[in-house]
Amino acid sequence: VRNRDVQDISKEVTTGVLGQKSFLPVSHPDYKYPTSPNPYWGKLQESSDLVYSDNKTEHNRGQWLSRFSSNALGQIPSPELHVEIGCNAGHVIVEWAAANPKGLYLGIDWKFKAIYRGAEKARKRHLENLLFLRAYAERLEFIFGPAEIDHLYLFFPDPWPKKAHWKHRFVTTERLKNLASLVKPGGTFEIKTDHPEYFEWMLEALSPCESLWETLSVSRNLHEGNPLAHQLTMPAVTLFERIFIKEGKPVHRILLKRRANS
Ligand SMILES: C[S@@+](CC[C@H](N)C(=O)[O-])C[C@H]1O[C@@H](n2cnc3c(N)ncnc32)[C@H](O)[C@@H]1O
Repeated sequence: VRNRDVQDISKEVTTGVLGQKSFLPVSHPDYKYPTSPNPYWGKLQESSDLVYSDNKTEHNRGQWLSRFSSNALGQIPSPELHVEIGCNAGHVIVEWAAANPKGLYLGIDWKFKAIYRGAEKARKRHLENLLFLRAYAERLEFIFGPAEIDHLYLFFPDPWPKKAHWKHRFVTTERLKNLASLVKPGGTFEIKTDHPEYFEWMLEALSPCESLWETLSVSRNLHEGNPLAHQLTMPAVTLFERIFIKEGKPVHRILLKRRANS
């Protein structure tokens, strides 16, 4: 399920981009996205109010609500911002946005083509409460302002099973602390994985963050006891979740709540 693109881009994320004036890792505050030969890179630069790409994803920090159409905002008295990290081509978030016009949705992925496809779906379905960002998740703190997000989702992040690759894992104590600053008190963070060892790693990473995140629920087999689990379709399950259910792999899930005043 992992492709060559992902390997290439991960290298860029962890080691920085050569061929620029400076050589900065993606998580560095001064990092700038380079141009790319990928044909979808150009298409994303041209497009529109529904998609923000690369450096442009960092121009609306703290102001994302105002980037949704006034039409969408007008119908929502107290809008909540839902952000999905690694949304792929929007398989889940498009359906969520369609089912809940009172929520505002933002899907983020580093894959050019996936984001382009997601935005096309949103346009075809006239969804005004959904935006897509082509960006690295490692830059979330430069994309969002303090307490800007109401609900954050991370479904099936790459598990990087080999010890030599653990440094690429997205969930770490430091990251959980950073993400806590972006989520509103009372807001939530939901994580799912098929990988038992990565799941235990996540719980360990979480333990120094108890003052920031309250653990609402932990499941090591989310669909256990549901004889109809294999019939679930999106958005009740994600694209990858459906595959893992079919393969008989238990889905692990943590639901966290951002504590107030910490
Ligand atoms: C295993 S797939 C899961 C996709 C989807 N969440 C699901 O459950 O079906 C992981 C997704 O995260 C994206 N991704 C991985 N690392 C990323 C990063 N550092 N920044 C942004 N997206 C990333 C990949 O492109 C891919 O779409």
